Amino acid sequence: MTAGFVIEPLGAHDRRGFASGVDALDRYLATQASQDVKRRVSNCFVALDDAGLIAGYYTLAASSVLLTEMPPETAKRLPRYPLVPAALIGRLAVDRRFRRKGLGRALVMDAAVRAGGSDPAIFALLVDAKDDAAITFYRHNGFRSFASKPHCLFLPVATALQALQDDS
Ligand SMILES: CC(C)(COP(=O)(O)OP(=O)(O)OC[C@H]1O[C@@H](n2cnc3c(N)ncnc32)[C@H](O)[C@@H]1OP(=O)(O)O)[C@@H](O)C(=O)NCCC(=O)NCCS
Repeated sequence: MTAGFVIEPLGAHDRRGFASGVDALDRYLATQASQDVKRRVSNCFVALDDAGLIAGYYTLAASSVLLTEMPPETAKRLPRYPLVPAALIGRLAVDRRFRRKGLGRALVMDAAVRAGGSDPAIFALLVDAKDDAAITFYRHNGFRSFASKPHCLFLPVATALQALQDDS
């Protein structure tokens, strides 16, 4: 339970009423998310309100980032392996009725907890923000942009878990 919502893997939930205001994200949940889970290309986690309806969701898949893309102060604390293991939040959306209640942040933190508990080691969460508002949201929640690609952002899992601990 996070921020009054239960967050769990997408199953046989009713997705038709979900309305984030971004058609592509609503359509993805309604028509594509289960297929991606079945094909093992992306997992999907949904936040349920107290009536069991989907209030938000995110997708999570294994990824990596070049060590050379990391800011120098982060890179210098990492071994010289060319790739840094990561988990990509490919999509994130909150139903309009539930915006600005902390659910977006709770979904990001749920991703951090899952990434932190995974058997393959994951150093950071990655996101590819779709617009400036999304960049602002992610920066507000501790993510930093890569110098070469400001719409791509990362958050070390350890930093996210520390923030979660500080919040509690
Ligand atoms: C981006 C989105 C997921 C945020 O969800 P949310 O539940 O409204 O966000 P939260 O309430 O958890 O906000 C967490 C913090 O970010 C801030 N924040 C939220 N949206 C913001 C925005 N657009 N700009 C700036 N700050 C924002 C909140 O003020 C809050 O700050 P606080 O912790 O200091 O109070 C939601 O607006 C959404 O679904 N947007 C459409 C889809 C989208 O853009 N997805 C992003 C993936 S590319």
